[in-house]
Amino acid sequence: MAHYWASCAGGLQFALVKELENLEGTSIIPGIDTYGGVQFRTTSPLQKVAELRSADNVYAFLSHEKNIPVDKEVGVAFMQSLASKIDWGPVMQLHKQWQEAEETCSTSRTSDPLLTMNGITNTDQTCEVTQMSFRVTGNRICMNMKKHGYTSMDVAAAIGDGIHELHGWPADMRSYNVEVLAWIIDDELLLLLALIYSGNKKNTTNLQNSSKIDEPHSNHASEEQELGGEQANLTKKKGRVDRPSRADAQLYSRRPYRKALVHTSLKPSTAYGILQLADVQPGDIVLDPMCGCGTIPLEASDWLGSRIMGLGGDFINTAIEASRVNSVAGESAGPCDIVQWDASMLPLRTASVDRVICDMPFGNRCGNHKVREVLCPRVVKQVVRVLRPGSGVAVLMAQSKTMKEEIVVNQKAYLSLQQHFYVHMEGLKVDVFVVHRTTEAAPTQQIVKPSKKMVKRKRDGQFIKPSSPEIA
Ligand SMILES: C[S@@+](CC[C@H](N)C(=O)[O-])C[C@H]1O[C@@H](n2cnc3c(N)ncnc32)[C@H](O)[C@@H]1O
Repeated sequence: MAHYWASCAGGLQFALVKELENLEGTSIIPGIDTYGGVQFRTTSPLQKVAELRSADNVYAFLSHEKNIPVDKEVGVAFMQSLASKIDWGPVMQLHKQWQEAEETCSTSRTSDPLLTMNGITNTDQTCEVTQMSFRVTGNRICMNMKKHGYTSMDVAAAIGDGIHELHGWPADMRSYNVEVLAWIIDDELLLLLALIYSGNKKNTTNLQNSSKIDEPHSNHASEEQELGGEQANLTKKKGRVDRPSRADAQLYSRRPYRKALVHTSLKPSTAYGILQLADVQPGDIVLDPMCGCGTIPLEASDWLGSRIMGLGGDFINTAIEASRVNSVAGESAGPCDIVQWDASMLPLRTASVDRVICDMPFGNRCGNHKVREVLCPRVVKQVVRVLRPGSGVAVLMAQSKTMKEEIVVNQKAYLSLQQHFYVHMEGLKVDVFVVHRTTEAAPTQQIVKPSKKMVKRKRDGQFIKPSSPEIA
């Protein structure tokens, strides 16, 4: 049985567990709760693993260790020794299968790598570990602990030295055959092997004689430190290491509708996770009033096809353009309409929508705290109005202090709070509210004056005020 780790946003593991429970020949291995993801073994074909909607990515599982010493010297020596004792046989077999599937895809020019995986089964076999180059990416977070004595770079260097000691492989940051991920959270270390690569990986079919391929590198900023022991330290000393883009190295980046992004775009796997909370039914109209590049309604359409109708809107021109590009790319899966509007004055009929799923602006990339505190309650009022009384459900993600009060106090007659929990995304803790619309009829629509911020945007040519706030 192949041993995997599937990653997802922290807090949304339940969606991944649900999908894995329905994956034939799969057993979930409990016990790693600190990380956003799930460890599992499966005999299901590769294609089925690659089709997991709630996973950001899948990796071959190398090792998980608790009680890593925090002290620099002891910790580094511990990690190096750990990495030098890993059994690579079964992991390399899995890696080989995934690479063969990807290569068949590029040589046969099939647009969908998943198709080439059809029929390739996960087995118990191991394979001979041959000579190859590698890279280690270290990532370190303190959640409940104050500080580690080492940096992410020290972690990557220690693991790199251990791998070099074991196999004698050379480290190569820019052109490598395998990439190891070393994630430390508090005193736990998770070691994984990447199965999906961005464009700069070496051709692995002839590992012994492979030559370097010059691939374009993006300038994507990353908090991660990529190293491979001593040699990587040398590379770093010489100057900044060019890093490849990871954007195309995720499982979710293969969604057909994922063509254009905005800087606040949600991961499709996260969109799928929160969609699970909305209990979407055939025939539902699924609305995201602040849709950015349209991830949520497009994921709903991609998942449920023409059984539902997706509807998204945003007030920024670039977001609307991105959503339209994406909805055209994904239209074969299911219908999704995109409209430009202000979510605090939705031009929709009262009681016309079944599900509202929305990640409202949060973090520094999207507006500021003061604007959000004004905007979020206004959007909630619109959600109350457009949702069908008695059957409507909303899943709202937000980082707003007033949001809970708006739901449980101000909208108490119209909304009943079913769940409230947190999701960890890009280092931020975001509230998720699952609310049911009560049977109480919505209050009559009041015309809301656009906030100063919105008027300013209009002057900049960014904000388009709907001609009528409600078509009743
Ligand atoms: C967190 S982002 C949503 C990202 C989206 N889920 C995606 O995957 O691209 C919040 C979005 O709300 C939009 N927004 C902010 N204020 C708005 C308003 N008054 N009306 C409509 N959209 C608004 C922003 O333009 C931004 O695209």
